[in-house]
Amino acid sequence: MPNRTPRPRRYLMCRPTHFDVTYSINPWMHPDKPVDPALAIAQWERIRDVYTGLGHEIAYIDPLPGYPDMVFAANGATVVDGRVLLAKFRHVQRAGEAEAYDAWFAANGYRAVHRPALVNEGEGDFLTIGRRILAGTGFRSDPGAHDEAREHLGIEVVGLTLVDPRFYHLDTALAVLSDEEIMYFPEAFSASSRALLERLYPGAIVAGEEDALVFGLNAVSDGRHVVLPEPATALAAALAARGFEPIGVDVSELLKAGGAVKCCTLELR
Ligand code: ARG
Repeated sequence: MPNRTPRPRRYLMCRPTHFDVTYSINPWMHPDKPVDPALAIAQWERIRDVYTGLGHEIAYIDPLPGYPDMVFAANGATVVDGRVLLAKFRHVQRAGEAEAYDAWFAANGYRAVHRPALVNEGEGDFLTIGRRILAGTGFRSDPGAHDEAREHLGIEVVGLTLVDPRFYHLDTALAVLSDEEIMYFPEAFSASSRALLERLYPGAIVAGEEDALVFGLNAVSDGRHVVLPEPATALAAALAARGFEPIGVDVSELLKAGGAVKCCTLELR
């Protein structure tokens, strides 16, 4: 069994003060289905408390009224080596969030900040693994944004095409576990992207549909601890068998917007 060493992380998070489902931009969102706002806040606080309990540092961006999806901080940017590629949202309902992230990075001393020309939804579609970014496209991020990421962030970018609208962001179908390991749901990808993933990560944990549908892949790993939605029990067992420590959390309210653990978490590298 490999000895898993956690690496301390810095995460940007946004309190779900204005969280709600008032529009539908992915198949999980049903504005007629009520959300429990207090429970959403409690679930988000639990995720944050797990991170701080593990020794990770949390930075906060202020939630904006009128932006019910802003809790999904992963979508705000991609940060590698202190260089920031800001997001440009696909849907008008979230477009204004980009300016808040722009202001946050400016106020927090980041200098190499790039405002993108093409749509990219931050770490929703750009997942950093070692010195490589796995970059999703198909529903949200423009494939041309992969070139912007390569140019501005200066690391290798590997494009992957998503084909199932339920898994509309890469981070709903794939999670980075360490600098060379992933877990993913193959059926969410085009045939050529599946072949590519098999070639690049032959030892990957392959998720079943049941775990993928409860957003088990919307997980955050520090190299040892993997925080993921509680109902993804088969994935938790597979992680434990590889020497990871799975930590299940309840994300019932966040799921109503089509998000879970990773969506709430933007890593500041
Ligand atoms: N309702 C949000 C949207 O559709 C959810 C975003 C989830 N974030 C993520 N990183 N997958 O944009």
